[in-house]
Amino acid sequence: MEPFQSLPFLLLYGSAIAIAIASADSSHSLLRMRIAPAGVGGAADGLFCDSWRLSVETNNAGYWRTIPPKCLEIVATYVNGDRYLSDSDIIAVDCLSFAETVRIVGDKKDVWVFDIDETLLSNVPYYSVHGFVSEAFNETSFDEWVALARASALPASLRLYDQLLGLGFQIVLLTARSENQRNATEKNLLLAGYHSWERIILRQTSDFGKPAVSYKSERRATLEAEGFRIHGNSGDQWSDLLGMPMADRSFKLPNPMYYIK
Ligand SMILES: *[C@@H]1O[C@H](CO)[C@@H](O)[C@H](O)[C@H]1NC(C)=O
Ligand SMILES: *[C@@H]1O[C@H](CO)[C@@H](O)[C@H](O)[C@H]1NC(C)=O
Repeated sequence: MEPFQSLPFLLLYGSAIAIAIASADSSHSLLRMRIAPAGVGGAADGLFCDSWRLSVETNNAGYWRTIPPKCLEIVATYVNGDRYLSDSDIIAVDCLSFAETVRIVGDKKDVWVFDIDETLLSNVPYYSVHGFVSEAFNETSFDEWVALARASALPASLRLYDQLLGLGFQIVLLTARSENQRNATEKNLLLAGYHSWERIILRQTSDFGKPAVSYKSERRATLEAEGFRIHGNSGDQWSDLLGMPMADRSFKLPNPMYYIK
């Protein structure tokens, strides 16, 4: 059962409406909107789910495990629609604006780091048939999907990728996929149109059980120790971007489907 549809919640919702009606103060209507349960009306859910998305994208929400049930359809529509493409597009434009200000030394040490899943490649076809992680994440079936090498490029990321290569950046791919998925990952990237990366860093056995934020920061530290200058970093997870050392600029791509610590 959806928790938002429980009886106490409906009662609470009822009193919130009463408060909102009793008061002309618009903050009370905000309260009413925030706790409006599923089935009340498309517009109210749309507003709630837009705000929920903003909260998770900004990391104000912190860790979250599942999409609010009443937002499932809205998230599905978002990741399959023009809004996702447009959001990603604007971010890629922001990345390029910054990238164009970077002085490329020419010693092949100027780096842009990309995450792979939901950054360069889209797994929306997988998540669309697996309930958008409203079901528990199934690593076995996800690995089967990875092995198919059938994920498509996020169009804005592919365009940015080529533009960065054109500007003279070295591209490093830093992914939580594991080393034994290297072949499938390379195959998929090439099929999707990516090429000429400096390297792909994948999780080793010694990284298993490590939070993504530690694994990824450690690898950025290794890159810096090798003399690379990490100017930009693009990822759909905060754990792609946070932790020291950080890129000069970090760019968060949208992902309302899941949160990785
Ligand atoms: C996870 O996926 C595998 C492979 O598709 C499947 O055999 C297994 O039943 C799934 N596990 C659960 C808990 O759904
Ligand atoms: C990956 O591909 C290389 C050559 O293309 C091959 O030698 C190697 O066995 C493959 N590894 C796996 C795990 O399939």
